[in-house]
Amino acid sequence: MSKRAAAALVAGAMVAVLTACGSGGGSGSADKGSGHKLTIGFSQVGAESGWRTANTKSIQDAAKKAGVTLKFSDAQQKQENQIKAIRSFIQQKVDVIAFSPVVESGWDTVLKEAKAAHIPVILTDRAVDSKDESLYVSFLGSDFVEEGKKAGDWLVKEYAATSGEVNIVQLEGTTGSAPANDRKSGFADAIKGEPKFKVVASQTGDFTRAKGKEVMQAFLKSQPKIDVLYAHNDDMALGAIQAIEEAGKKPGTDIKIVSVDGVKDAFTAMSQGKINYDVECNPLLGDQLMELAKKVKAGETVERRIKTEESTFTPEQATAALPNRQY
Ligand code: AHR
Repeated sequence: MSKRAAAALVAGAMVAVLTACGSGGGSGSADKGSGHKLTIGFSQVGAESGWRTANTKSIQDAAKKAGVTLKFSDAQQKQENQIKAIRSFIQQKVDVIAFSPVVESGWDTVLKEAKAAHIPVILTDRAVDSKDESLYVSFLGSDFVEEGKKAGDWLVKEYAATSGEVNIVQLEGTTGSAPANDRKSGFADAIKGEPKFKVVASQTGDFTRAKGKEVMQAFLKSQPKIDVLYAHNDDMALGAIQAIEEAGKKPGTDIKIVSVDGVKDAFTAMSQGKINYDVECNPLLGDQLMELAKKVKAGETVERRIKTEESTFTPEQATAALPNRQY
């Protein structure tokens, strides 16, 4: 066979593979050509935080704008609900499945089922720890390790002139979730060179305000000296602020607070001096997700990892950004 013929064969095979991957498979995939409305099955984590509410709205609004049929399912922070939703999307023969995995592990079986049904899967916001990368086509979302590192870097600068011990309590996100794992490790990495920093207590607050408050109340009772609270999200920080105030202390002054997300309520608290630093995590992924799903459906090659652009906020910056903050 000539080199040219071999190259043509390889190119043909690649197109076939991409088309098969993007077609959605199942019955009727051949007639899903021009004029066919794209259907995405989306399994959301839940409604645990202000960030999540903004993320859901962004995805629903973007689907409407893009003329995409969105089958939306709320998993209420339970992996088994997400697995059920994904199986139901497979049965309904949606074109693309997208989901934000509540925890990192335990997805291989259901993702293999989607693959066998030729339905491409896009991960949004959170990652899975599957070794088999053929189980999803792309992952769109933040770099959570980097977010944790930014929080730790701020702390190192803030306490540069302090030589005594700095006692930190940590409110972790949902156990086993990518943002909890990564924000914890990124932060630990950033402060590890400075023995004065001591994480004296660390517990999950499940990314909710109520749990954040409850766990902070327990920290305040069990820890004689707390200098800093590191919260893996704003909702837990806001719950903790209530606990700190109820204990007769001043959040932001008696206990410094560094958090992640950058939602409006946290910016309001920052403008009141109650949170000292916020690392942004952008929930507005809807438009990018629709674009990505359309490309996947059309058989175009897409990037395997798409990172969200994010910033950090001091109280002054948050106060200035507050009037125009969308979420
Ligand atoms: O996965 C993103 C995280 O999940 C956000 O930081 C948090 O607020 C949400 O619940």
